[in-house]
Order: sequence, then structure tokens, then C-alpha cells
Amino acid sequence: MKIRGKEWRSLWFENGVLKFIDQRKLPYKFEIFPAKNVEDCEYAIKEMVVRGAPAIGAAAVYGMVLGKENISKTAEILRKTRPTAHDLFYAIEYMVDKIKNNEDALNAANGYVEDIIDRCRRIGKTGEKIIKNDMRILTHCNAGALATVDYGTALAPFRIANRKGKKIFVYVDETRPRLQGLLTDWELKEEKIPHVVIADNAAGYFMKNGDVDMVITGADRIAKNGDFANKIGTYEKAVIANENNIPFYVAAPISTFDKKIKDGSQIKIEERERKELTKINENTIMPEWTKVRNPAFDVTPSKYVTGYITEEKIYENLKDFKIL
Ligand code: MRU
Repeated sequence: MKIRGKEWRSLWFENGVLKFIDQRKLPYKFEIFPAKNVEDCEYAIKEMVVRGAPAIGAAAVYGMVLGKENISKTAEILRKTRPTAHDLFYAIEYMVDKIKNNEDALNAANGYVEDIIDRCRRIGKTGEKIIKNDMRILTHCNAGALATVDYGTALAPFRIANRKGKKIFVYVDETRPRLQGLLTDWELKEEKIPHVVIADNAAGYFMKNGDVDMVITGADRIAKNGDFANKIGTYEKAVIANENNIPFYVAAPISTFDKKIKDGSQIKIEERERKELTKINENTIMPEWTKVRNPAFDVTPSKYVTGYITEEKIYENLKDFKIL
């Protein structure tokens, strides 16, 4: 991704250190967070220095490099960081296999990351074909380069369409409580793609008013029948899109598809800390007695999905997807 004219990835490995663009600080500060050991990497994933399913997977492969002296312990630590994104588990299994087969850990990790970047680029090329000139597209959360090392999943088709000269306009859900929409806002600003940020609960208003032609989101885990987990609030966007006859697409690489589960009821949903809801930038916005629930994801049934934009092609029905 281009940031102030220079190419960046959301994370990279340099001289034995895993470096992240610190996503907790964006969009106000651009800082690099160094992870020198497995514990730093564990912290970065848990605390959302790095976030977004494919980027978490990429962090895990380098985490395995940092802890390669004891792979089963490292794998166990990393598996416990976040439960919902399938990429994390896919990436750890990939590294366990490679290291057991005596492959060089760093080479294997670099290979994984180059591959995931290429898959996201191909998602962009596939998805761009359904974007028509002057389309207005809604997206939820951040499924951009920050969430995936480069290009993005949902945002990759936007990038390619924009670079090809197609005119598009993006509605960006703010995405309470962690405001990942601001990361999307920042990425689209850097890419010069016209857009506005809207409160999550304004999405229905714009869809009903005929202001949205299509919805594209990312995914954190996709079951064999196409039910998928994504950032909390995705489900209601899919239902409203369906009610208003707006096509709803999900963009994701192979690492997000979970072959082991038959439907969305088997997806574990992460519940995060109370303070994500009760505070904004350390300012308390709810009294101490207020009880909260904070699920980070929800599951959208496949019946609401028009198509899955993958690196291979767009699948309208996952029965045709050979990997599943
Ligand atoms: O909790 P996060 O920020 O790690 O959530 C992940 C996401 O950014 C989204 O759900 C995204 O749409 C899928 S990952 C490209």
C-alpha cells in the first residue's frame, strides 16, 4: 500500500525482529511496533496492534519463526491469542508442517506472506470485474491492506477499479467499538478513492434511500456451507441489503475458509473486554454500574450472500469450490 508516496506492508520481518504498523495508533500517529520474541507477538495480536484475519495469520507465521526453538509451545501460545479468525490457525498449522519437514522457518514464513499478498492481489482482479463505473459501495470494518499485509480483501477490488480509472464511491461503516472504519477511511484517503464514513446504524438509512448499489465485506472465517463470521454488525448489513435487493459480496482468500466446519453455528465468537465499549481514548463514556456485552464478530447465514470473491473466481455457490 502507498502511504505518503512510499510502499508499505502492514508487517514485515527485519533483522530478526517482526515489525508492525501499530494499528492502535492510526490514523493519528504512524508508529512501528517491534516484536522481538513470541510474547511480543502474542501481545501484538491480542491487543490489536495487528488486526484483520489474513494479517493475523501473517503475524503468526513470523511469531513461529521467533519461537522456533519450541514449536509446540509457540503454536499453543499463538493459538490462544484470538479465537475467530481462521487464518491464525491455518498459518500456525502451515508453519508446524514446514518446520517438522526441516524447512527453514524464515523461508517458509516469507513464502506464506508473499503468497497471501498475491492472493489478495488476485481477489482485487476478480472482484474488480463486478464493479461498474459510478457504483456506490458499502463496506464494513477494515478489510484493507492493513488487515491483510497488502491490497486487502474487500478493499482490493476498490483499489484495482480505482487504478483502472473507474469512478466509485465508498460508504465506510465506522464500526463500533474499535472504529476499524477509520482505518478504511485512512487507506481510501491515501489511495484517493472518494468516500464518507457513516455511523454503523446509518447503513440501513442509506441502503433504503437507494444510495448503495452493492456491499462488499471481508470475512474472518467461512464455513463449508458459506455461513461466515465477520466484524460485529455484518449480519444486520446483510439482512438490510437483502431487504433492499442490494447484492452482498464477501471477499476472502483460501486461508479464511475453514474446511472442518459445516456451518456457522460451529464458529467460536470472541467476546472482548468491557473497556472497548465503556471508554473512548481513555475517556470514560459509561458509568461503572453499566453492564455490557462485547462480541467482536457475528455470523451471517450464506442465504444472504450473492457471491464469494476469491483469488480463483467469484463463487455464487460454495458447493463448486473444490477446496471445501
Ligand atoms: O477484530 P479485527 O479488527 O481483527 O477484525 C477483523 C476485521 O478487520 C474484519 O472482520 C474484516 O472484515 C475481515 S479481515 C480482512
